[in-house]
Amino acid sequence: MSYAVLSFALVVVALLLLYLHNHYSYWARRGIPQEDPIYGLGNMKGIGREFHFRDINSRLYKRYKRDGAPIGGIYMFFLRGAFVVDLDLIKHILIKDFSSFHDRGIFNNVRDEPLTGHLLTLEGEEWRCMRNKLTPVFTSGKMKFMYPTVVAVAENLSRTCGQLAPEFEVKELSARYTTDVIGTCAFGIDCNSLSDPNADFRRYGRSIFEKPRHSQLVQALILFNPKLARKLRCKLFNDEVSEFFIDAVRNTVEYRIKNKVKRNDFMDMLIDMMAEDQEAAAKHEGIDVSQGLTLLQMAAQAFVFFIAGFHTSSTTMSFCLYELAINPKIQDQLREEIVSVLNAHNNNVTYEALKEMSYLDKVLNETLRKYTVLPHLVRTATSDYRVPNSSLVLEKGTTVVIPVDAIHHDPEIFPDPDRFDPSRFDTEHAEKRHGCAFFPFGDGPRNCIGLRFGKMQAKVGLIHLLRDYKFSRSARTEVPIVLSKRNFVIEAQNGIYLRVERV
Ligand code: HEM
Ligand SMILES: *[C@@H]1O[C@H](CO)[C@@H](O)[C@H](O)[C@H]1NC(C)=O
Ligand SMILES: *[C@@H]1O[C@H](CO)[C@@H](O)[C@H](O)[C@H]1NC(C)=O
Ligand SMILES: *[C@@H]1O[C@H](CO)[C@@H](O)[C@H](O)[C@H]1NC(C)=O
Ligand SMILES: *[C@@H]1O[C@H](CO)[C@@H](O)[C@H](O)[C@H]1NC(C)=O
Repeated sequence: MSYAVLSFALVVVALLLLYLHNHYSYWARRGIPQEDPIYGLGNMKGIGREFHFRDINSRLYKRYKRDGAPIGGIYMFFLRGAFVVDLDLIKHILIKDFSSFHDRGIFNNVRDEPLTGHLLTLEGEEWRCMRNKLTPVFTSGKMKFMYPTVVAVAENLSRTCGQLAPEFEVKELSARYTTDVIGTCAFGIDCNSLSDPNADFRRYGRSIFEKPRHSQLVQALILFNPKLARKLRCKLFNDEVSEFFIDAVRNTVEYRIKNKVKRNDFMDMLIDMMAEDQEAAAKHEGIDVSQGLTLLQMAAQAFVFFIAGFHTSSTTMSFCLYELAINPKIQDQLREEIVSVLNAHNNNVTYEALKEMSYLDKVLNETLRKYTVLPHLVRTATSDYRVPNSSLVLEKGTTVVIPVDAIHHDPEIFPDPDRFDPSRFDTEHAEKRHGCAFFPFGDGPRNCIGLRFGKMQAKVGLIHLLRDYKFSRSARTEVPIVLSKRNFVIEAQNGIYLRVERV
């Protein structure tokens, strides 16, 4: 009897091992190089503790590049991915052959958590339709229109910075600024987080990044097995976060419709879209597009503008100020440009003045290179894809990982990659690089929709701060800075403290 149980157990174990062996040799069997995976962990050993995702990417990138392979394998726990190293192939995937890679394959669960049904996670036709509708919100005409609002918030930023002298924490101040910018532009609400560090929007924004709903284990499940996570009806955010944002959108929409308020901002565009959809639904009787649903869809888009918009830009601003503080020559050169351009514009921070600041653009690009916000881009093969110049076929459903941060730190592309050097973006150096070597906002039809807006708000904030203040190292400034291993987006682990004085 126990003999039978034992042999049964042995057979089960053998089958499991066979399955795991098969699963974790997928790439090797196709002649694609892979780093020996650990059953269960794949190549993710130590993630969140010893390593950040960018460290793992960088390790794989160096190895596969040395092997001369355009593609290597990556096992993210159980999830298999194609890890793309070759820049021409990246260009194909993101741009030329976009039609086979239009989805990311990341988690959403609209049924239980409507806020997850936004542009970042939508797929196929749903994504295409939403992206087409939202694109006009981000044209340069619209940017110009929102510009004075951004400048008004930046004035407050500068004032608040002065109150914090002689030493302050940059991350928090930048986040309060971008929260107010996105709040006014996306929600039409004065969030007042600059005047009150515990204002609602800032509090909920902070809690999304600092107090996740789940343990790291459940987060890993959601990240690497989104289909299973959806079946298990997982949610991503704390319920009070969802409630707060949905209420904020509902109140704003009701207020605007009732009082016929028009501000030509993100929210107005969303309201118009909703009205169109309802008209269309009314014409096709029998199709039930209830009002609640579209309001929730709308809340989801406003929500993604908020989370994708405030943290990315404020992080970029903070690392930029950090580098300027430890590189005073670069800071002086940038301030000279800002002062001389502003002088030529009556000391008015106009949209045109902003466009003339070419050194600022280089400094910002160099910040986005050295401190690439997202370690990599993801796509899913939406049909079988024959890799050009190779016999390899990426099967439908394969996850594709594009290690942007590793490319931005490749010494063959950016010599001495840890040095902060805006002159890398001088035309003569930039011309020598591959067209796909610098892409902090992704690339192709599914790149960052808020690229222009994000750069604009970061620049306007930086201009105001550098015009009014000088930043330098204080006793609490970490050099080199310690980056957090826990967050997926880049983050300074212990904050960024700088000394600040009036110029
Ligand atoms: C410095 C600031 C920012 C950085 C570095 C950044 C970076 C990125 C990156 C790398 C992606 C993925 C692109 C790809 O897969 O090819 C992305 C997507 C996206 N970003 Fe940004 N972003 C920034 C600011 C913003 C702002 C201000 C907004 C909105 C107001 C925004 C909204 C979005 C949205 C909605 C997507 C998904 C687009 C889609 O799938 O169609 N981002 N961003
Ligand atoms: C395929 O090979 C040709 C000729 O060598 C080259 O020009 C092209 O860039 C290659 N395509 C990719 C995706 O590597
Ligand atoms: C600037 O700050 C003041 C007071 O702190 C506030 O009343 C005003 O609404 C703020 N302006 C913007 C555009 O945020
Ligand atoms: C600054 O420019 C804005 C428009 O860009 C204009 O409305 C404002 O009057 C200007 N202010 C000064 C002091 O020139
Ligand atoms: C900065 O990077 C963007 C791509 O994100 C590029 O279009 C722009 O030309 C770059 N600016 C400079 C000065 O090189």
